[in-house]
Amino acid sequence: MHPLLRLLQDGRFHSGEALGASLGVSRSAVWKQLQSLQAELSLPIHKVRGRGYRLESPLQLLDEEVLAANSVGPQWPVAVLPCVDSTNAEALKRVAGARALPFVVLAERQTSGRGRRGRSWASPFGENLYYSLVLKIEGGMRQVEGLSLVVGLALLQTIRGAGVSAAGLKWPNDVLVDGRKIAGILLELSGDPADVCHVVIGIGLNVNMLPAERVSIDQPWTSMRAELGRVLDRNELVLELNSQLSRYLEIQQRSGFSALQKEWQDNHLWQGRKVAITAGIQPIEGIVLGVDQSGAIRLSVDGVERSFSGGELSLRLSDDS
Ligand code: BTN
Repeated sequence: MHPLLRLLQDGRFHSGEALGASLGVSRSAVWKQLQSLQAELSLPIHKVRGRGYRLESPLQLLDEEVLAANSVGPQWPVAVLPCVDSTNAEALKRVAGARALPFVVLAERQTSGRGRRGRSWASPFGENLYYSLVLKIEGGMRQVEGLSLVVGLALLQTIRGAGVSAAGLKWPNDVLVDGRKIAGILLELSGDPADVCHVVIGIGLNVNMLPAERVSIDQPWTSMRAELGRVLDRNELVLELNSQLSRYLEIQQRSGFSALQKEWQDNHLWQGRKVAITAGIQPIEGIVLGVDQSGAIRLSVDGVERSFSGGELSLRLSDDS
């Protein structure tokens, strides 16, 4: 962690002189470091004459050592980066040189966080989880079938386990609370599906970001803090997410998605609802019947059952639903 950020993370005032003494640099060097910190992380730092500098609110940062020391689940190596374009992009870059697989890349901030269907993912510093897990795909593309839905279940259990009991799933892999999005998943593949192939499981989870903050998001959203009225420990959440992912991925590897099909449907918020699926130019309306063994959504369209699958599809409730 940046040494200056470590000193400021308590959210209290620190004089330039005290910061300089702790860092062994002059007050003007402190000033320069503050400027670059603010620019690099887009993190507001307040200056009050006679009192010094402080962050807008206290920070509890992600910590590789805390994560390594407290893991009771899978021993996946975890890298924490202060700022990156996208943890998925970074994870893809690291695949070639990786010493161990699976591995996790986390960031405190993303400058080009990416979402499904070409959208961006709001990623302010130090507030949420921007998480990418890289797995090697062995045994062909069947292993990827239903994978994003399996990840959705692991993510849902993590969110519910922390107390957000109203959270549920929306096909293919959004987590919603009262119609507002709290988390999303973006899977990206690299390599040759017929040969060696890797999948990056990208997860964005709104943890401590509050609706009053200056983030612009083009759909209704919420966060764990907004739902629970308290700040959450993100290191604990990462450890729980790792454990849940490892548990659900193991089930999928052993028995395929079909072993989780019922659990997924039981947690689908739009089961039995009238929806429109955007699969081409013309949306198709139907009633949600469930998901099939590959994770495709099953709709009753004019009384005829049809299945739809693909990462670019999106579902919305019909106006008269
Ligand atoms: C969605 O559109 O719902 C998917 C959002 C996925 C966002 C996460 S944040 C971590 C990872 N890195 C990215 O650039 N995107 C994913």
